[in-house]
Amino acid sequence: MGEGFPQGFFDRQDESDDARFYTEARFVTHIDDATIAALTEVYREQLTPGCDVLDLMSSWISHLPEGIAYGRVAGLGMNADELDGNPRLTEHVVHDLNAEPELPFEPASFDAVINAVSVQYLTRPVEVFRSVARVLRPGGLHLIATSHRLFPTKAIRAWHVLPPEERMRVLAAYFERAGGYEAPSLLDRSPEGADPLWVVMARKAGVAG
Ligand SMILES: C[S@@+](CC[C@H](N)C(=O)[O-])C[C@H]1O[C@@H](n2cnc3c(N)ncnc32)[C@H](O)[C@@H]1O
Repeated sequence: MGEGFPQGFFDRQDESDDARFYTEARFVTHIDDATIAALTEVYREQLTPGCDVLDLMSSWISHLPEGIAYGRVAGLGMNADELDGNPRLTEHVVHDLNAEPELPFEPASFDAVINAVSVQYLTRPVEVFRSVARVLRPGGLHLIATSHRLFPTKAIRAWHVLPPEERMRVLAAYFERAGGYEAPSLLDRSPEGADPLWVVMARKAGVAG
């Protein structure tokens, strides 16, 4: 594994099969309403109406703005009932990215790949980011939204020990080490008095066609 990160960086308290942890559906929200609203606003700004979207590490809620039609909206996550209950998805697949980081999609099939409040659960993120670059079209956007809550036993050790600004640097390193992306940029869209919202995003290198 490694990819240049320190030993133990991706260790977790619970190294058992992720499928076990996600057997039970959780129809809950993982960030405050104001933080969800801020994330929806980021999507409104960053995603072109009509574009094909992949919601990675998806559940029953994608936080996409209501009233904007996208093209294909594929969801990939661990719980079939949650994905079945997500009204924004046009298709979904249950797929464990820690067991198999390669995405089950054709090359250049999405304009945007979004990942909300879940990147801390990836134990092989550079491989996943590399695969995201493969399924994005040139100029396509990979947008990672993070906050501060987590399922402690399933989050990688780095997320437990690093302060937020360092975690953002780690996400930038995932993009750089995966390759195939332009330089990542950072947005702090944390609402006052609610869970924070930090976004790290990068476009796939190459000219949009
Ligand atoms: C905190 S929830 C966030 C769900 C959703 N993105 C949201 O914003 O509400 C974490 C999500 O990560 C997904 N996940 C966790 N481990 C995963 C893995 N190994 N492979 C794929 N998805 C995973 C779970 O299915 C779950 O939906």
